[in-house]
Amino acid sequence: MVSEHAAAQVLVASNRGPVTYSLEENGELTAKRGGGGLVSGLSAIGDSEAALWVCAALGDGDREAVRRGVGEPGVRMLDIDARVHADAYNGIANSVLWFVHHMLYQTPLEPAFGPEFRAQWASYETYNRAFAEALAQSAAADAAVLVQDYHLALVPGMLRELRPDLRIGHFSHTPWAPVDYFRMLPDDVAEQLLRGILGADRAAFLTGRWADAFSECCVAILGGTSGTRIGVHGLGADADFLRERSRRDDVEDRLAALREQIGGSGAGDRKVIVRVDRTELSKNIVRGLQAYRELLATRPEWRERVVHVAFAYPSRQDLAVYRDYTASVQALADEINSEYGVAGWTPVVLHVKDDFARSLAAYRLADVALVNPIRDGMNLVAKEVPVVSDEGCALVLSREAGAFEELGEDAVVVNPYDVSGTAAALHTALTMPLGERAERTKRLAAAATALPPAQWFLDQLRALGD
Ligand code: G6P
Repeated sequence: MVSEHAAAQVLVASNRGPVTYSLEENGELTAKRGGGGLVSGLSAIGDSEAALWVCAALGDGDREAVRRGVGEPGVRMLDIDARVHADAYNGIANSVLWFVHHMLYQTPLEPAFGPEFRAQWASYETYNRAFAEALAQSAAADAAVLVQDYHLALVPGMLRELRPDLRIGHFSHTPWAPVDYFRMLPDDVAEQLLRGILGADRAAFLTGRWADAFSECCVAILGGTSGTRIGVHGLGADADFLRERSRRDDVEDRLAALREQIGGSGAGDRKVIVRVDRTELSKNIVRGLQAYRELLATRPEWRERVVHVAFAYPSRQDLAVYRDYTASVQALADEINSEYGVAGWTPVVLHVKDDFARSLAAYRLADVALVNPIRDGMNLVAKEVPVVSDEGCALVLSREAGAFEELGEDAVVVNPYDVSGTAAALHTALTMPLGERAERTKRLAAAATALPPAQWFLDQLRALGD
């Protein structure tokens, strides 16, 4: 197979790519480059002629870019039928696989796998096949292909059949479900998902816990991992980038604005609890707010002496359950403010519009960072805050976040369902002596940056036998 991309030696495949396009009113396309770990990881390859990132066109802007032949060097966007993509992404990936791996179903009503699920599953297969075919077409002989996440679980197996010469890796950025929970899926689907990933030479995860859960599913359902190697690469924060980025003028401006909103005498007499998340069910934002309310209720000495700065950025708004969750976050923040707020003190400062510079400003001034997910593959916020913090920050961390494996020792650890326990942890974190806090922050930052994105990416390539 020959194509313009057929020389790629290293390929990455993911649903969300490094660039998205928006279609402006005047008909022009503007490109926005994402700043995530994968983007900086891939840029480590350097020679973009030999590297290719295959991703899906996600919206009208992306589709228009594909139609007009507009693109970034080193990126191939696939214009998959919008209906097929919606079924695969919203239906299967985000409403089924995400829910299974994060254990988010609310039985007895959910899940129910009937005809709608089967139709969406057929789309998921079609969408995975489109990726496998594009990768097969673009890869040079013996190339390395790194397939990312639960959206593309079937790709390794499909690609292996099309191109047995390739070295294929799969990486899961989510947790992996325990075997009894994974078995909620219809048997044939569970088998297909496992076999799909086992089509890779190597299946890798963010922590040993998720890797073990995957292996256990393979043993219980298929009798073994059929020669696929299992690896762990704990993605870390990008210290150089974060330290430089968080000192720029736009962050300083946001810092001043936040200080204004927090209020007080300006002499740091008000402590600040910060959280930054996508408005995501697994992030447990509502229980975090409930814990904060309990803190104010049971320890009145904190009233007017603490502010909870909560950034809950929009995510997956096509799904009603995410829209409802966003509304309950907003409603609870309002409730706390009307219950406890007084002139000159707003207990919860909630922002819902994505602003990276403002997130960095909040990281800098946080006394406490609250990271309490129900379950999380890693959680990079927990790793970014200690790196950026100006004067040290106590970390309240869920034991169910992947980051717990590396950061647990220096965090105040919580069971994410235990609201009263989380309220107590917030008090402990707020009263941590500053010297101890600074020491812990130093150790947290060292652990958080042990494997920066570029190294994380290169380690995977090396492990594939590059
Ligand atoms: C998680 C997933 C990623 C995904 C991201 C944002 O981190 O592991 O694959 O890209 O969430 O979600 P979205 O649905 O907006 O891509």
